[in-house]
Amino acid sequence: MSLGQQYEPFATRYASTIENHPYRLYYEKPATLALMPDVRGKTALDAGCGPGIYTEWLLQHGAQVVACDYADTFIDITHQRCNGVAQVLQADLNQPLTFAADSSFDLVFSALTLHYIEDWHALFQEFFRVLRPGGVVVFSVNHPIYDMETRKTYNYYDTELCEMLWKNFGEPYPRVKIYRRPLSAMINPIIEAGFRLDTLSEPKPLPEFEHTSPDEYARWSRKPSLLCVRAIKP
Ligand SMILES: C[S@@+](CC[C@H](N)C(=O)[O-])C[C@H]1O[C@@H](n2cnc3c(N)ncnc32)[C@H](O)[C@@H]1O
Repeated sequence: MSLGQQYEPFATRYASTIENHPYRLYYEKPATLALMPDVRGKTALDAGCGPGIYTEWLLQHGAQVVACDYADTFIDITHQRCNGVAQVLQADLNQPLTFAADSSFDLVFSALTLHYIEDWHALFQEFFRVLRPGGVVVFSVNHPIYDMETRKTYNYYDTELCEMLWKNFGEPYPRVKIYRRPLSAMINPIIEAGFRLDTLSEPKPLPEFEHTSPDEYARWSRKPSLLCVRAIKP
């Protein structure tokens, strides 16, 4: 089942809210960028680009970028935002990345997207295929402990579809489904695809986050909501 179009009803609201949201500025973005390699002169795939925040960042830092997403509105927004400089494609990350040749990228990047994908074995095999030797995959994703607490789950060891009501992006509130999974089901597909795990980070929010979001700051300073990973194709 593809969860790729579920952003459509609120994609414009998401795009206008998320870029300067405290969660982004003081938590997800600094934590994810801490794992980013030097991208100048490199080829990068932004997998699940959404409204193109990281696509633009990669371009500004000297990468040649292919961005892909499943949601039509995000394709349009990223295309306009990147002024035709990045190649922006509609693609379903549940399917083989047929647009990408073997060993064609130095970096596969994915922010907050992989919890929408059920089969990480097939996905990381594809990421491995499209990366050159020495290439890097960097991604951020919901932390299993966060999904475990916020979704009413019954068995930590299952990979299961869960639904949340999001109140951060205005009304009508969207219901968003993700796949919750245990930590082992995140890490083993990466290793089994052939990657060397380089960094696994369970970041804390920056101190600035406390001013805007004191409750989340207190909670996520003790229990992460985010997991960031860097792995390398040998
Ligand atoms: C939380 S947004 C993150 C977007 C962007 N990476 C960012 O950081 O702003 C998750 C993105 O995953 C995309 N997505 C979900 N399922 C997908 C799929 N099967 N194939 C491609 N993109 C998908 C959504 O359309 C959405 O743009």
